[in-house]
Amino acid sequence: MYLVASNEKNRDANSVFRRELLHGGGLDKCAAYLQRIFGDSLNGARVIDYGCGRGNWALAFLQAGAKQVLAIDAVDDNVQRLHDYCSSHGIDGIDVVHGDLLRQNITAEKADIVWLYGVMHHVGRPLALLQSLRDMAPGKAAQFYVYGNDAGSLRHFTVDTARQLYPHPNEEAFRAESIPLTRDTRRRARDDLIVPHLDWYGATEFAELLSGAGLEPIAQAEGFEIFQNGRRNQEFQPHEALCRGVPAEGAILWSEPERGYGDDLCVLSAMAREVNFAVTDKSARIQVALGLMNTHFSHLSSDTSGAKATLEIFLYLLHVLDVHGGLEQTEGLAADFVALAEAALSDAPRKHLAAASHPSNLARHLRENMIRL
Ligand SMILES: C[S@@+](CC[C@H](N)C(=O)[O-])C[C@H]1O[C@@H](n2cnc3c(N)ncnc32)[C@H](O)[C@@H]1O
Repeated sequence: MYLVASNEKNRDANSVFRRELLHGGGLDKCAAYLQRIFGDSLNGARVIDYGCGRGNWALAFLQAGAKQVLAIDAVDDNVQRLHDYCSSHGIDGIDVVHGDLLRQNITAEKADIVWLYGVMHHVGRPLALLQSLRDMAPGKAAQFYVYGNDAGSLRHFTVDTARQLYPHPNEEAFRAESIPLTRDTRRRARDDLIVPHLDWYGATEFAELLSGAGLEPIAQAEGFEIFQNGRRNQEFQPHEALCRGVPAEGAILWSEPERGYGDDLCVLSAMAREVNFAVTDKSARIQVALGLMNTHFSHLSSDTSGAKATLEIFLYLLHVLDVHGGLEQTEGLAADFVALAEAALSDAPRKHLAAASHPSNLARHLRENMIRL
């Protein structure tokens, strides 16, 4: 039984969490991850799970040894669902509160741990949010786990491009339009395209937000994905910082994650600009946005470097330009790569072409291989 969405925010949250139900096995993994991060300091801790969503982390904190969890979310349907779950499962260590620190104060006992997972990039004023959370856990030993999307990642490119082509879909439209997508893509596209606000942070910006709120990173968490799957995926490496209040012993410098496709992103961005000009019809733009998401997310499983997805995205954008008559209009870097790709399609000599000496992996691939569209 689900509540009917009653406002914009509920509608967006319901699109994400309506079918994302809580499962015991999933909670066990979350609890094991929390134990890995916080160790014994979890025992008897008071925790704030801010932007708790369906509440999996709040429940996992309790399971992992926390004494009390304050789970806060700005969306009342999320709050109601978690509240109902706790009531029906006899769980009484979680206080579920409907609230938004950017609009109101929330009075609570001082927390030992603040968990801000998957939330910061959705709020318009992240610094103000971090400052308010810092005030709710003022103790010297308080710990803060702060997660933020990574700017400059391949996922950042794809999601931003898709959001530009298909801005602000509503859930009903998206459900119908996303039918051709694979399941993984559909779930990601639903989360990343429907959500009204989505930011991405470079390492410097992320570190400045932390220090502006009086927080210092003391450890780079391995991340839940890596904890679960045992491998780092360069396509998306969110900033996940375990912090303490300033001054923090053992503070670390925050740095950009390692990525091997920086030069390729320049090429993809140039191609995306051409696609943006060439495809003007609204329904065609939606098709391209969803096709781009499909291409990206269906080429990740066997490749952690992002190289396969990068190549496939390039070929996809080339195909879109081909279909929409945009190949002849391309300029600059995109035109150079279109020429190189045309030569690779017919296996013509190409070492002399401008793009052949570009430092990207894409250039090397197109120089050394034949391609098919
Ligand atoms: C991507 S979800 C993450 C949910 C949960 N932390 C998780 O990891 O599954 C973002 C959540 O933050 C909530 N949220 C967004 N802005 C908020 C704000 N200003 N105050 C409180 N909650 C907010 C949303 O309602 C949503 O539940």
